[in-house]
Amino acid sequence: MRSVLDIVDLSVEELDELMKTACDIIDDPEKYQEVCRHKKLATLFFEPSTRTRLSFEAAMYELGGNVISVSSAGASSAAKGESVADTAKTVSCYADIIAMRHPKEGAAMVAARAASIPVINAGDGGHNHPTQTLADLLTIYREKGHMGNLTIGLCGDLKFGRTVHSLINAMSRYENVKFVLISPEELKVPSYVKKDVLQRNRIPYIQTTDLEGVISQLDILYMTRVQRERFFNEEDYLRLKDSYILTPQKLLNAKEDLCIMHPLPRVNEISIAIDDDPRACYFKQVANGKYMRMALILKLLKEAGTI
Ligand code: NCD
Repeated sequence: MRSVLDIVDLSVEELDELMKTACDIIDDPEKYQEVCRHKKLATLFFEPSTRTRLSFEAAMYELGGNVISVSSAGASSAAKGESVADTAKTVSCYADIIAMRHPKEGAAMVAARAASIPVINAGDGGHNHPTQTLADLLTIYREKGHMGNLTIGLCGDLKFGRTVHSLINAMSRYENVKFVLISPEELKVPSYVKKDVLQRNRIPYIQTTDLEGVISQLDILYMTRVQRERFFNEEDYLRLKDSYILTPQKLLNAKEDLCIMHPLPRVNEISIAIDDDPRACYFKQVANGKYMRMALILKLLKEAGTI
């Protein structure tokens, strides 16, 4: 059974195909409004979420399907000690496809091995978040018109930010991409991502703590929240939480066609004064995310022979 746990579970050709389907849905939503009739998506969210869960649910409704949902660990049998594998086997009896978020790295893989229906990883701890990356890729494509020849700045919590890890993995597969990794010393990209993705594929990157020093080089600036829930102590979080706050002042030397992204939720990382700047793309990412999730649900249900 095909599941999507990591963005590299999808080939570049499949990413292109998903973006094509998403664009077709945007152009002609009526064509898709009955395709998942009588099919059910189960959203199993054992960690807080607004966008991702609602986006999956809206996606399934717009395909004409239905949704059943667990929206917190405390409200499910996980609170009684049920294993992820048992939950996945149980839910396979009720639904046609699962979207799962869990605080533990690897939880979605455990679920996928036990389930008899496709599982989509909607975020596993500080590890991966492939469907946020699908939203990010469509945003880059629609804003820039191409995926290669880009200098991508990633800024903030690059250690615990799972969206960052998935985006590096995805964009490393396109031609002539460079990364500028901007973070405090303590929140740098994990060495396994640098070694296994950037160095192995000979992708140029620099690491810096100075956002203003590099902003003029960037085609994309991907801001992220400091991931409070993954810190071992509150003091470190408080010390690092406001390391980067993007303000209009800091954008003075930025390119005219810079694309400013953020997976959201934002805390303080982007001043609301930037929201009306035409370069702000973070709410476009939210919209794009729903279309890419529609495309992914369709693809996996077709491959499973469910539709
Ligand atoms: C991200 C996540 O959950 O990893 N949010 C999202 O899904 N859009 C980023 C975050 O929580 O900071």
